[in-house]
Amino acid sequence: MIGGFTVTNNTQFGIRGPFPASRPRRMRRDVFSRDLMRECEISSKLLIQPYFVIEGEGPDVPVPSMPGVHRVTVKSLVSKAKKVFELGVPMIVLFPVTDDAAKTDDCAGAYDPNGLAQRAINAVKQAVPELGVMTDVALDPYSPHGHDGLMDEGGYIVNDETVEVLVKQALSHAKAGADVVGPSDMMDGRVGRIRVALESEGHIHTRILSYSAKYASAFYGPFRDAVGATDTLAGADKFTYQLDPANSDEAMHEIAADLQEGADMIMVKPGLPYLDIVRRAKQQFAVPTYAYHVSGEYAMLKAASQAGWLEEKKVVMETMMAFRRAGCDGVLTYYAHDIAQWLND
Ligand code: PBG
Repeated sequence: MIGGFTVTNNTQFGIRGPFPASRPRRMRRDVFSRDLMRECEISSKLLIQPYFVIEGEGPDVPVPSMPGVHRVTVKSLVSKAKKVFELGVPMIVLFPVTDDAAKTDDCAGAYDPNGLAQRAINAVKQAVPELGVMTDVALDPYSPHGHDGLMDEGGYIVNDETVEVLVKQALSHAKAGADVVGPSDMMDGRVGRIRVALESEGHIHTRILSYSAKYASAFYGPFRDAVGATDTLAGADKFTYQLDPANSDEAMHEIAADLQEGADMIMVKPGLPYLDIVRRAKQQFAVPTYAYHVSGEYAMLKAASQAGWLEEKKVVMETMMAFRRAGCDGVLTYYAHDIAQWLND
């Protein structure tokens, strides 16, 4: 036995014969046997496509640090949602890019029934009812300082007061028609409070995909450009609520708590640099597990591809395969539409 595997050798069979006894390359020789032993496949059904949504009727606005990604109006969102659904992608997630006027200390814009997020959810559900619509539950689009929660006088992001607002935000998303709410704020106890509120208000089918293991990562840079948070954050970090990239036990505690509080699905974020967390989570909890292939990861692949240093399609598909192999049931990626298109071609 070597590392739990039985290894055959020549002497075992009394053969003096050719070396080596084990030839794994036999199975790799032809397409048919490679096909037969492939462990993972990529399908459009396991992808979640994010969109940045803006007010107005104007043209889509490119995001400079994410070539190929645009901020889209509600009208444009609806047409993109139709196309992506036709390509087989089961769910989209919406990120509103709010005007500065919508940002207040109490973050009341988060639960405005006529807010941008709420109108966008409604428009997509009207146009493409079978497409899953997921939302981001966090206060960063509505806070003047770009943090995911309410701030006290000392600059600390307060937990319980923030949770009160997150509950209202999640309810307003559910009322607007959201199928899945995604708390990405990392406050303690928010999943339980959101679940109780959804149940008691009759939203018994609303799923919670909790960003349980969300790290304080520098890979979010382009996203913050896209939503205009780079300036409002002004160099501040989120280390008092997001996870330390050095830790993995802490992520397991977060996931356990969120599941106990009523999460249906869990997310690891960022993605590729955190595949060890995905693997550990899937093994330990055996629940629907997703990874967020974040903006910085997209930017890296895109930039290298545009420079001609990497073959985009191949590296993107290999990246998706890595997520599957690690244990992801699905992947939230800015490449979702492209991948679904490539698979259909
Ligand atoms: C904020 C939020 C962030 C992302 C998704 N939701 C940024 C942050 O936590 O500062 C980042 C996603 C990405 O980089 O693609 N609630």
